[in-house]
Amino acid sequence: MKRESPKKILICVAWPYANGPRHIGHVAGFGVPSDIFARYHRLAGNEVLMVSGTDEHGTPITVQADKEGISPRELADRYNRVIGDDLYNLGLSYDLFTRTTTANHYRVTQDLFKTLYTKGYIFKKSMMGAFSAKTGRTLPDRYIEGTCPHCGYEDARGDQCDHCGKQLDPNELLAPRSKIDGQPPVFKESEHYFLDLPAFIDPLKRWIEDQRHWRQNVRQFSLNLVDDLHPRAITRDLEWGIPIPLEEYAHRDDKKIYVWFDAVIGYLSATVEWARNKGRPDDWRQWWQDEAVRHYYFMGKDNIVFHALIWPSMLIGYGNGLDGTLGGGTGEPLAVPFDIVSSEFLTMEGKKFSSSRGVAIYVRDFLERYDPDPLRYFLTIAGPESQDTDFTWAEFVRRNNDELLATWGNLINRVLSIAHKHFGRVPEPGEMTPADTDLLSIVEAGFESVGERIGKAQFKGALNDVMRLADEANRYVSAEEPWRLVKEDRGRAATVMYTVLRAIDSIKVMISPFLPFSSQTLHEMLGYGGSLAGHLRFEEVTEGDGLSHRVLTGDYGDRVGCWEPSALRAGQKLPKPHPLFKKLDQDVVAAELVRLQESSM
Ligand code: MF3
Ligand code: ZN
Repeated sequence: MKRESPKKILICVAWPYANGPRHIGHVAGFGVPSDIFARYHRLAGNEVLMVSGTDEHGTPITVQADKEGISPRELADRYNRVIGDDLYNLGLSYDLFTRTTTANHYRVTQDLFKTLYTKGYIFKKSMMGAFSAKTGRTLPDRYIEGTCPHCGYEDARGDQCDHCGKQLDPNELLAPRSKIDGQPPVFKESEHYFLDLPAFIDPLKRWIEDQRHWRQNVRQFSLNLVDDLHPRAITRDLEWGIPIPLEEYAHRDDKKIYVWFDAVIGYLSATVEWARNKGRPDDWRQWWQDEAVRHYYFMGKDNIVFHALIWPSMLIGYGNGLDGTLGGGTGEPLAVPFDIVSSEFLTMEGKKFSSSRGVAIYVRDFLERYDPDPLRYFLTIAGPESQDTDFTWAEFVRRNNDELLATWGNLINRVLSIAHKHFGRVPEPGEMTPADTDLLSIVEAGFESVGERIGKAQFKGALNDVMRLADEANRYVSAEEPWRLVKEDRGRAATVMYTVLRAIDSIKVMISPFLPFSSQTLHEMLGYGGSLAGHLRFEEVTEGDGLSHRVLTGDYGDRVGCWEPSALRAGQKLPKPHPLFKKLDQDVVAAELVRLQESSM
């Protein structure tokens, strides 16, 4: 196989709000796809840096903190833990999963704010803001409901009408009311800082037009919006957030930076933190100030605007910074995204996921009852990669039993049981027949085709291709009947077993980005030591101020896996095998539906 020289790939994964546990719809959108991508690129010998963290500012946090009767910081601490644990348990192999409440993130965010301000891309203006009549606090657009002035729909939200699709401002709504207490909001004049998005329309348009490799939906959606960009407020009347780094706000606590402005900066600040944690603080530049590095962003479709228009505007405006700022005014300008991989939405038994209405299955509850790989399998093969899809328990059970277990699990079971029982080791092959070499060449060709698909973020197609290779191997086993050969022709049996073990060994590598846990088990059942992909772990990071925070990271350099055909050695000892996947009883469906029913009452 041709080997290209290693590439540097920065994988930027959307930052989940630390306002509750994550449900499987969330991880279907940003989590599993980005991890498949990262794992593949590491195996292919590329240098990967995958960063993200919890998004801990703004009204999503304060509203929930009020509900739970704790402070925003306590809420963020609570769910940063929960979410970190979920991601770890799903095997999402971040190089750094941190938080937006670190001193480092504050510094980097303020640096961007100040630099954009100095360069004239941020200006001050007054606007009408909505406040709660009861508490006097800001009401986020999404928490204001009322009648749509365009179509008369009564449950339109302050940011848009879900009925006619029009973008709205809260003060356009007729009979507006707060979603929190039902009271009409009070509108007050308030001064805010705005990002001058129209200044970037031309460069953005030229850039997006060139991005022919983006998924069509993302490119078209962005092009449709770009001409219509208005200045956007990047501060809010809120105490919880990153302080505005300007003299007149130094001692005021009532206005903070808007959560979306700080969150997207997380990709950069997390890289800066990663470099610092490694003890090589300048290394972030190799990931951001080098045109050759490719930046891939993973998210759900509701995040596209921020990643395809707003964040690129901020990056273009910042350039390489100014003297005395993070960028230093030297070196290449900060890199804009190479690709924006956005998924569609997952629904749950035909309904929109909704934590408040109890229509959800949380990652931690799911993993208490089922293994992570069947979930990763489902979310890849039947997930919302390019269209909205539905999670149903019946389909989950069917895919687990009739596909994962019947095709891949069964192949491994049949082959490893015979191999262990009759040979105890990887047998020494005799001369191979065309059937043997055909199987191996079909399987080995997968490294090229499957790799190419994953590289293009076509995960569903890639996994389908790998499953077809497992089908081929099953057909080969059925045709060669090794269980008969072991009695009648031991020499031929040895060759057949060697061939299919080697095919399985190759498929193991190709399937491992999708199913990391069972692939590691299989790796060991094939008699290997070492870790295919390396290990995830938590680490406590202490900043200069003595405060510390837990991050999810990993030692992926310790892996033994490689994206290339198996070179299985005869004689390798085979331990006693056991089934990789559990058959799920049909009763599971009814029991889970009852659970869902109860939680959504
Ligand atoms: N927290 C946001 C959401 O859940 C996503 C933020 S992505 C970021 O929709 F990169 F901007 F942080
Ligand atoms: Zn409407």
